Amino acid sequence: MKKKVDKLITDAKTEIEGVESSKELEAIRVKYMGKKGKITALLKSLGELPDEERPAAGEAVNKGRKQLEETLKTSRETVRSSESAQKLRSQSVDITLPAVDHVMGHRHPINRVMEEVLDIFRGMGFSVRKGPEIEKDYYNFEALNIPKDHPARDMQDTFYFGEDTVLRTHTSPVQIRTMETEQPPLRIVSPGKVYRVDYDVTHSPMFHQVEGFIVDDRITFSDLKGVLIEFVNQFFGEGTPVRFRPSFFPFTEPSAEVDIGCVMCSGSGCRVCSDSGWLEILGSGMIHPEVFRFVNYDPEKYSGFAFGVGIERLAMLRYGIDDIRLFFENDLRFLAQFS
Ligand code: FA5
Ligand code: MG
Repeated sequence: MKKKVDKLITDAKTEIEGVESSKELEAIRVKYMGKKGKITALLKSLGELPDEERPAAGEAVNKGRKQLEETLKTSRETVRSSESAQKLRSQSVDITLPAVDHVMGHRHPINRVMEEVLDIFRGMGFSVRKGPEIEKDYYNFEALNIPKDHPARDMQDTFYFGEDTVLRTHTSPVQIRTMETEQPPLRIVSPGKVYRVDYDVTHSPMFHQVEGFIVDDRITFSDLKGVLIEFVNQFFGEGTPVRFRPSFFPFTEPSAEVDIGCVMCSGSGCRVCSDSGWLEILGSGMIHPEVFRFVNYDPEKYSGFAFGVGIERLAMLRYGIDDIRLFFENDLRFLAQFS
């Protein structure tokens, strides 16, 4: 029996020496010490031995088992530490590799200018209202004193959905929507997207406007001038030349377009201002009495002014950009200049 045990232990130790993983080691443990293992079998066979042989044999098997347990334990530790060392090696970070570059995004120039414009008007006590981009003909034209078949409809080339629905061509319908539901005094700005059948270096089929209007008793053209000159001073800088040029809109009377001294040539004349020295930035005027009648305001009691400014136009002047389409091509080389 002792010889048998010695042989088993020697075999087991040889096997253990060649082991490389804890899995293999576990297989060896099962092979010798498991329920059906070789040592276990020897232990079970003790009962069949004659009484006088049993104690010695028992001692030999137990001793062998202990020895094997020791060997397994030592080997397990060795294997485990080499395994974890290998795992660390495979997961190690090569700090000499170039780092991953995280590119920070930033706000689109149109959004920046939009926020800046709204901030200036908020500072003058205006609050913000929004209106739908898909709009009823009634709000976009009719209630703004532009009846069907009126030649003024040709001022803005319109995307129609059937008879009565349009993509709004300007933010002016928000005037009507606001006055329908609120009473004066009003001091409102309304930013948003507008759409026209238009496409060239200064015209885009979708662009942004900010509408503004004030309604109260005794609002005059001087208030209009005061507010718009203050806006120009804050946006383009104190002392920027401003001029009010007579114009026409069906929903204002009198009407004026506002020009600023060309920021490219400082008024001496260049390609951008068509050698005039002036650039148009917005349309404005005193709200037409007919518009007040549409919203059931008494034109004898109230007066007001309104204006609509093109945001892309402001951004082009601010950043010296001569093609409006650059804003919408999403070329990162262009956009990254505004970080
Ligand atoms: C209007 O849209 C009027 N609703 C403005 C207004 C409001 C007048 C309140 C009186 C009272 P106009 O069509 O001129 O007006 O457009 C206003 C501004 O929008 C223009 O000065 C220009 O800066 C900008 N704009 C017009 N069409 C385009 C276009 N296709 N692409 C980019 N900007 C445009
Ligand atoms: Mg105009």
